[in-house]
Amino acid sequence: MDDKTSEKIFYITTPIYYVNDIPHIGHAYTTIACDTMSRYKRMKGFDVRFLTGTDEHGQKIQAAAEKQGITPQALVDKIHLNFKELWKVLNISNDDFIRTTEERHIRVVQSMFRKLMDQGDIYKGTYEGRYCVPCETYVPESSMGPGETCPDCGRPLTMMKEESYFFRGSKYVPQLIEHYERHPESILPRIRYNEVMSFLRGGVRDQSVSRTTLKWGIPVPGDEKHVVYVWFDALINYASALGWPDAPMFSSYWPSVRHMVGKDIIRFHCVIWPLMLLALGLPLPQTVVAHGWWTVDGEKMSKSKGNVVDPFKMVKDYGLDPFRYFLLREVPFGNDGDFSESALVGRINSDLANDLGNLLNRTLQMIESYRNGIVPAAMDNNAQNNLADNVLENVDKAMERFAYDEAMKEIWAFIGRANKYIDETMPWKLAKDTDKAAELDEVLMNLYEVLRLAALLVAPVMPQTAQRMWAQLGIEDDPLKELYSSFRWGDGAGAKIRKAEVLFPRIDVKEWQKAKEAGKTVKTEEKTMEHEPEIGIEEFKAVEMRVAQIVKAEEIPKSRKLYKLEVDLGYEKRTVCSGIKAFFTTEELAGKRVILVTNLKPAKLCGIESNGMILAASVKVDGNAESLTLVTPDGDIPLGSRVS
Ligand code: MSP
Repeated sequence: MDDKTSEKIFYITTPIYYVNDIPHIGHAYTTIACDTMSRYKRMKGFDVRFLTGTDEHGQKIQAAAEKQGITPQALVDKIHLNFKELWKVLNISNDDFIRTTEERHIRVVQSMFRKLMDQGDIYKGTYEGRYCVPCETYVPESSMGPGETCPDCGRPLTMMKEESYFFRGSKYVPQLIEHYERHPESILPRIRYNEVMSFLRGGVRDQSVSRTTLKWGIPVPGDEKHVVYVWFDALINYASALGWPDAPMFSSYWPSVRHMVGKDIIRFHCVIWPLMLLALGLPLPQTVVAHGWWTVDGEKMSKSKGNVVDPFKMVKDYGLDPFRYFLLREVPFGNDGDFSESALVGRINSDLANDLGNLLNRTLQMIESYRNGIVPAAMDNNAQNNLADNVLENVDKAMERFAYDEAMKEIWAFIGRANKYIDETMPWKLAKDTDKAAELDEVLMNLYEVLRLAALLVAPVMPQTAQRMWAQLGIEDDPLKELYSSFRWGDGAGAKIRKAEVLFPRIDVKEWQKAKEAGKTVKTEEKTMEHEPEIGIEEFKAVEMRVAQIVKAEEIPKSRKLYKLEVDLGYEKRTVCSGIKAFFTTEELAGKRVILVTNLKPAKLCGIESNGMILAASVKVDGNAESLTLVTPDGDIPLGSRVS
């Protein structure tokens, strides 16, 4: 079924990337997020156009070319290929790739400039101010860093004075404020909306939009000693790629435009660009979504630190789909996140190998052994409802808000329900009893359907995995070409499955650590990570843990490490001594909900009887905790509830 309609149009863009540098995970992240959204919308029946490209003019490029002793054109011709190559490796499904040195773009920049000049919205003046050369931006005095430095990169600013053309953006500020007041949903997440609004309300000056100090740029029409300021030039790519002003593509896609950007370039996209669009009389973007920044092992990524994560290498070492999944699952979209290979390995082993991979493997093996590889026909709507549990709707709600991590959590809850369903229905027992044949048919069919749907659901983020899953499920079609709306529970009956193959091989953490150590890149805590001997479920159950609340925390005069805590379990109060003094003040602890081990033998610490232990996670270096966080319940649950 094809539910494509003319209203379902979705135009999505990445920022265009500077080509003075090699691509890193920050670039990969934005583009993978757009790719996943594009694939998702296509499967929802939207007519999607997905644009990416490269920002090839400006001071940074000119300086990089000078350093290499080549022309800027030769540099950009070479470097932009790294991005094209990366998008191929990352399986990016962009419909177009624009370069700002292309004729189609230059032409549009010059016509827009001329139009704004003709209508009096661009005028000539003199600009004097403090300028950050690497960031290509004048920095107002109010936002300078200490010692007249750039607030973004921290480098010293240079005083500059030049004749310049100005864009009369200030004229359109009230109109823009009014628009945002009516459409707060057009800047996501909310924190960025607030940031933009307070910036706008603080007043916006006219923008300098030309430079005489550099050569590598688009000449200002009619005044060739000026080149167009690189940001004014770059922002226009979103419209030039569609053939503004009169290409049919422009009129169909423009009104549905969504820009995905990093939080650092939000003002360009939510202030300058919309002011330009208002002046040009064009509709404003539907949404600008800002994501956070990645640090690496807790530190800012930088060439000088040598910690820049190479996406090509990550794909080679861990596989493409696990890398794509990790980036979108690990961090709530919009927040900053920390990249570490150990976290990536953790996700591969738990979410991919254990949860998804095992479900596929167990199910296929059972269909093979109990039903000769043919999916039995059996209808069971209850199981369908219980297992699927509105997963499609929930994923959709999350994706509407660009909450990729939440969408993924929904999908994994679905996979988790299916794994639990196997444990509860115990098909291996049903298989031993011929009276239970119909029941077994139902279970196997339901599991097969879960996997058929799960493949569709993971397809936008892990396209190759979806294809591999459907191939093993014996489905000829390509899941990437399917529409969600065409999915019907039970349609898989009668399929002949293929031999089960491991979807995601488990990574042996000890071996991996050894290999990392040999490569000398392993982190301290991984080197010192020790595993306890295996225990049975009975031993685990013997530990009684309950939700509790810290009522009061007090210093113990004789102790450097301990606090005396009064904790409430709902049914009783207890005193617990806890070695967390180095990490919290007494005020921070009061009122915190924690998990308490309640059946530990009482112990006397600094003369006080301690009745239990609160759970915390810590990073240890040389046996000492360097950082520590308390384990707290996620959500509202009565005090005293048992943790298992
Ligand atoms: N050329 C401009 C954009 C012009 S758009 C009209 C530019 N290019 S950039 O290459 O420096 O950055 C492109 C994107 O990469 C930005 O959205 C930025 O936020 C993102 N990232 C760069 N480093 C990043 C991280 N460490 N983490 C996440 N994303 C980051 O700005």
